[in-house]
Amino acid sequence: MSRYDKMHYNRCGLSGLLLPTFSLGLWHNFGEIDDYQNAKELVHLSFDQGITHFDLANNYGPPPGSAEITFGKILKEGLMNYRDELIISSKAGWPMWDGPYGDWGSKKHLMASLEQSLKRMQIDYVDIFYHHRPDPNTPLEESMRTLDLMVRQGKALYVGISSYYAAETKKAIAILNDLGTPCLIHQPKYSMLDRWVEDGLLNVLDEEGVGCITFSSLAQGLLTNRYINGIPKDSRAASGRGNGAIESGQIQPNEIALANALNEMAQQRGQSLAQMALAWVLRDKRITSVLLGVSRKEQLLDSLKALEAGPFSQEELTQIDQLLQTHS
Ligand SMILES: NC(=O)c1ccc[n+]([C@@H]2O[C@H](COP(=O)([O-])OP(=O)(O)OC[C@H]3O[C@@H](n4cnc5c(N)ncnc54)[C@H](OP(=O)(O)O)[C@@H]3O)[C@@H](O)[C@H]2O)c1
Repeated sequence: MSRYDKMHYNRCGLSGLLLPTFSLGLWHNFGEIDDYQNAKELVHLSFDQGITHFDLANNYGPPPGSAEITFGKILKEGLMNYRDELIISSKAGWPMWDGPYGDWGSKKHLMASLEQSLKRMQIDYVDIFYHHRPDPNTPLEESMRTLDLMVRQGKALYVGISSYYAAETKKAIAILNDLGTPCLIHQPKYSMLDRWVEDGLLNVLDEEGVGCITFSSLAQGLLTNRYINGIPKDSRAASGRGNGAIESGQIQPNEIALANALNEMAQQRGQSLAQMALAWVLRDKRITSVLLGVSRKEQLLDSLKALEAGPFSQEELTQIDQLLQTHS
């Protein structure tokens, strides 16, 4: 069977680019501290399942930068033969190196960071480059002009923004349109536990013809069976990885209770909780792709079964809303 038989590919906004319904994120489990063989197998299994899009950023690891080095090594050891079948993204905008040019949204930071990412991954260009977060102190025009420049220099094919609120997204899209480099995609956090995008952002993206790829749609594992019986030693929360990863102390009893209640509902639907949580995000047709974070192959194969999930009935959606409210 071909790797392209099972996956669905969705048009990214009004662009020519198709993205897989599920993409692989390399924020955690691909750093220098992680097992290289496992990382390589996860990337290859993903590609074999039709996942053509791999999402990185300058600071993924730990240590920061090491996920790009890992991915570069995987490319060099064979995957590079498939470069024209891959969509590779990177980002800059979170703290990466010392001094005043090591984060945020200046031209100095963004250009230097992209150069570093290309070197670490040993590639000539990325398919998508994102400004990773809005910078309140740099003129938006400067950050957007820099994204446009990257495309003109051939170092990025498309550009996007991440975690921009609805109003600033609209402004960024307008600036990029004026420059002649349309905004391809927005990357926001979106899950049952964090629904901020429903409050305006998704409408803006839809109106402007910009795609949407969501992150932490399993709330870093909270919306899976991972924590329903406590915090396993081999989980992200127990690992003390830093760099924004969920920590044991952050997990609240109401969240464990919610995960248990949702897990029961998922079982009634004949699904794992991860599958139900992913299908829930994808119920909104404005979502182009969902980024999966995985630490092991079984998780990837489990999550991908969400592709086969039947639609939610109105009663089921109401039941989920009620569970979210009861356990908030
Ligand atoms: N733009 C941004 O600012 C931003 C921020 C964060 C993330 N991202 C992107 O989004 C990607 C995904 O984010 P995320 O890693 O937080 O995603 P996530 O899908 O919410 O969480 C991933 C974690 O959930 C657990 N898991 C995944 N599938 C499972 C399954 N089927 N059954 C049981 N447990 C499962 C694993 O935990 P264990 O590790 O404990 O096994 C896994 O590491 C990142 O890699 C990155 O590319 C972007």
